[in-house]
Amino acid sequence: MRVAIFDSGVGGLTVLEDAIRRVPSADFLYFADTDNVPYGTKSKEEVRRLTVEAAKFIADLGTDVLVIACNTATSAAASELRHRFSFPVVAMEPAVKPAVTRRISAEGRLSLNADKRVLVAATPLTLREEKFQRLVASLDTEGIVDPLPLPELVDFAERLEFSDSPVLSYLRKATIGQDLRTYSTVVLGCTHFLFFRPQFRSLFPPDTEIIDGNEGTVSQLIRTMEGLKGINRERSVSPFPGRVLYFESMRPVTDSVALDRFRRLRERYSLVREGSSLS
Ligand code: DGL
Repeated sequence: MRVAIFDSGVGGLTVLEDAIRRVPSADFLYFADTDNVPYGTKSKEEVRRLTVEAAKFIADLGTDVLVIACNTATSAAASELRHRFSFPVVAMEPAVKPAVTRRISAEGRLSLNADKRVLVAATPLTLREEKFQRLVASLDTEGIVDPLPLPELVDFAERLEFSDSPVLSYLRKATIGQDLRTYSTVVLGCTHFLFFRPQFRSLFPPDTEIIDGNEGTVSQLIRTMEGLKGINRERSVSPFPGRVLYFESMRPVTDSVALDRFRRLRERYSLVREGSSLS
């Protein structure tokens, strides 16, 4: 079975890495819209148009399922893709639900951090979009969710700029005036941000949880693939298990420099990922 994974750039490599780990029998197509990254500072209409164009290209190449490994593209175009294409579309949204509901323990008692708040870090477009506004309005009955737009963090990832000092000074500047000790949970609501887990970790108190939507998205992918197997068992085994074909804005990636960049990013994510991503 072929799984296509789409992002504006390199953030979706974190989803690719998690998907390969959990579905090693599939083969993958990774599409990074390198020519147009970042999406998060563009208009909704522009991101919608770019996402539909990329999905058309992927549809022509052929895939069994498409994962939008981008919270920004999801908010601008997920419903349109679901209408336009016959393959299933797995989309991502910031993990606000687990963040808000985890404050209440299984027994219905308030957890130790019950008085604390939830910070959702994402791109400006994700945070101002109706999809996110509605999600928060439906869950955040106590008004504990604060949005944190971090547009420049996407560029740091695209430049492979992972050293502590510039990243931390950007994060400190972006959170200036906020009391970071009040947050029990930080939601990484942009796939590019997962490369910076160590810096988020060092900025917040040790008992602040840092969560993301990758595990939930890959679980949804697995459920979708199970459903497809029921329809067409023949396709369930790929002739090229674990193979990844990379594309940058509709160009196949074959040169060693570009492939090496993807390899280094996947390695970076493997090093910094923790077993704590939820949703
Ligand atoms: N990685 C994307 C996301 O999850 C968007 C980054 C961007 O292009 O601004 O939102």
